[in-house]
Amino acid sequence: MLRLPRTIEWADGRVRLINQLKLPHSLEYIETSDWRRVAEAIRRMEIRGAPAIGVAAAFAMALAAVHSKARNLEELLSELRACASELRGTRPTAYNLFWAVDQVLATASRAPSLDEAREAVVAKALEIQRMDEEANRRIGEHGEKLIADGDTVMTICNAGSLATSYYGTATAPMYAALERGKRFRVIALETRPYLQGARLTAWELKQAGIDVKIVTDNSIGIVMQRERVDLVIVGADRITRSGYVANKVGTYPLALVAKEHGVPFYVAAPTSTFDLSIEGGEEIPIEVRPSEEVTYIFGQRIAPEGVEALYYAFDVTPPKLVTGIITEKGIVYPPYSKSIPALFGR
Ligand code: MRU
Repeated sequence: MLRLPRTIEWADGRVRLINQLKLPHSLEYIETSDWRRVAEAIRRMEIRGAPAIGVAAAFAMALAAVHSKARNLEELLSELRACASELRGTRPTAYNLFWAVDQVLATASRAPSLDEAREAVVAKALEIQRMDEEANRRIGEHGEKLIADGDTVMTICNAGSLATSYYGTATAPMYAALERGKRFRVIALETRPYLQGARLTAWELKQAGIDVKIVTDNSIGIVMQRERVDLVIVGADRITRSGYVANKVGTYPLALVAKEHGVPFYVAAPTSTFDLSIEGGEEIPIEVRPSEEVTYIFGQRIAPEGVEALYYAFDVTPPKLVTGIITEKGIVYPPYSKSIPALFGR
């Protein structure tokens, strides 16, 4: 049975989350009753990964509700709207954050009284966390059928348990395959500059007992030429209604190389990652992070003074490169402009 530490938890009006910047060297937690500290943790990437950011945002709203000094429902709703607006400004690409904040706001605005609103917000945040874990478990059940005994699976960034409530998205099929006794190995792209692949994916797969190797992001070409790669599974931060997939920068080149080598390229994501309000890839807001996150490595400058880096944190993979999208409701295949709306009953 899978035994990984919980990414984020709610207990007695406090939030406890793993500080992912400290991994893999130490497993440290941030514990707070201040919703602004949770917003800060999202901004600083102490917690990251689209579904985990969504749960963290929901818990931040719950902290705001529980510790609010509002004297009536109207005051509470206005505080929650301010909190929601700050949370929406933390990271722009992960749709789960916007989805979760809207869910919590809608729940609060339906409540008949101040006390019921507080309770309803906490219950909703906990439900979002539970639903995420359940969705990922199902993604695992659908996706494990794609992994055969002896396979090599490639992934990028960390779309693992650490990026979600539990199980992960891209890793859920791996964990389910492991539970069914399949033997396989994983090649994780290290994922410059935050090294989510080398630090986080390698850490949690190792904890789970899965054979994992790290490769630098620029070695996907030679690795696909010289090693047998059977399958690529990646996560997603936002998927449009026609199947454009925003995910960690480097995913698009990975999809191109996979296509050239005839390697199936799957995306694993819960339905909370789908933004049906947009169609094309150019409509997805792409986070651009500070130059220093690239020009410095662990506080040491690596580029000449006066030279800046251009750091897009995500890229967009077009639907024609995506073999299938593994969701909690099943795997959808092209044409996505039909299969994605159908997934939502449209
Ligand atoms: O910048 P990050 O670490 O938040 O980026 C994470 C990713 O790109 C993940 O692949 C994505 O959020 C899916 S997580 C299940």
